[in-house]
Amino acid sequence: MAAGIAIAVLAAPSHGQDAGQFPEEQVKQGAAIYARTCAPCHGTRMRSPEVPADLGKFPPDQKNRFITSVTNGKNQMPPWGGVLQPSEIESLWAYVMAGEK
Ligand code: HEC
Repeated sequence: MAAGIAIAVLAAPSHGQDAGQFPEEQVKQGAAIYARTCAPCHGTRMRSPEVPADLGKFPPDQKNRFITSVTNGKNQMPPWGGVLQPSEIESLWAYVMAGEK
């Protein structure tokens, strides 16, 4: 269900979702947070046999869903909104979209 919330993406006015649209530092920050916070469940390369969500295949047009699921949690996944800053979750999005596939 779409939340209907428009999230302003200041740095990325384009419609394309390729790696080039994310600043390298942001992707790097996301990779570091991912390795620390997400990899234990989602695997080092965004694929884990234990978790039903394959982040390497997360739909690029569903950023709002990513932000919402990560912030509020989903089923077995705990919420990260109290742990990570919104800018850190943005970096995770950049990493998941640009990162190792
Ligand atoms: C404690 C284990 C655990 C950790 C740590 C964890 N996740 Fe998850 N994650 C899950 C599980 C389990 C699911 C599947 C939820 C479902 O769909 O039932 C999931 C699903 C997801 C989804 C898909 C949500 C959707 O809308 O389908 C995303 C995106 C995601 N995780 C991102 C992250 C990110 C980013 C981090 C690091 C901040 C993270 N996860 C850390 C267990 C974890």
